Amino acid sequence: MAEISPTRPSLDLTDRVIIVTGGATGIGKVYATRLAEAGAKVVLADIVDEANQQLAEELTAAGHRVIARTTDVADQAKTEAMAQAAMDQWGRIDGLVNNASLMSVLGRKPWHEIPADEWDRVMQVNTKGVFLCCRAVYPHMKAQGAGKIVNIASSRIFNGGKWRLHYSASKGAVWVLTRALARELGEDNICVNAVAPGFTLSETQIATSSNEHMAARQQSDKCFQRDQIPDDLVGAVMFLLSDASNFITGQTINVDGGGSMH
Ligand SMILES: NC(=O)c1ccc[n+]([C@@H]2O[C@H](COP(=O)([O-])OP(=O)(O)OC[C@H]3O[C@@H](n4cnc5c(N)ncnc54)[C@H](O)[C@@H]3O)[C@@H](O)[C@H]2O)c1
Repeated sequence: MAEISPTRPSLDLTDRVIIVTGGATGIGKVYATRLAEAGAKVVLADIVDEANQQLAEELTAAGHRVIARTTDVADQAKTEAMAQAAMDQWGRIDGLVNNASLMSVLGRKPWHEIPADEWDRVMQVNTKGVFLCCRAVYPHMKAQGAGKIVNIASSRIFNGGKWRLHYSASKGAVWVLTRALARELGEDNICVNAVAPGFTLSETQIATSSNEHMAARQQSDKCFQRDQIPDDLVGAVMFLLSDASNFITGQTINVDGGGSMH
């Protein structure tokens, strides 16, 4: 029987090296900011260069430890460079938050109007991108004997969600990838879990949603009848990055105010 070593059920993230993909804007920016404020060393890995660099400069000026690495998560060489940047700067990788995705930039259209090449790009970024980022950090986490991977899915995997069929399918793939990868990485002591956000008022979501869509969203099955904001998601992500969740893997925490239950 495997030896059971005592765990430290701590939520402390001080000095943990954590990569946040898509960390320059939207909800990812909030994850990165809160993690840096909690004492983590953060790598911002976003395809947008200017906002990525600017956020790193702002957080560094505020006394936090943050570097920016321009990264297209759909490009294997770029994801490997992202992991290497973390290793060069801080010598380890404790956590990866796979948050980057094509979402707010996608039009809300009926499924049969989605161009096939747009479908392919969504799968490349939202699904293959998660696979490539996991691959890039894996050798380092394996060598350390521990690691935490947190994949950002969507509550659409539970409730369907109208429009953006490609986006919904890509997040369903992330959900199953989380379960299957957890099975393979248990022997390396690497936790793989997911968080499924409900409709969240990120800056990008607000900027790309029509007034009609926002109004329609007010009526929902949520237990908490208020808008969901990015900070509602931070606690679940931090928990899954911390030692407090060391015996949890392959799970998906749905954070949507009780709209869907599973
Ligand atoms: N906002 C919501 O209502 C909501 C709901 C459910 C799930 N989510 C998920 O939460 C996450 C964050 O949501 P958001 O509202 O901030 O989304 P968003 O679309 O506004 O932001 C995504 C971020 O990913 C970056 N990005 C896009 N393509 C990239 C690539 N190829 N490589 C690296 N970075 C790339 C963007 O530059 C951006 O910073 C996403 O995974 C999204 O699918 C959001």
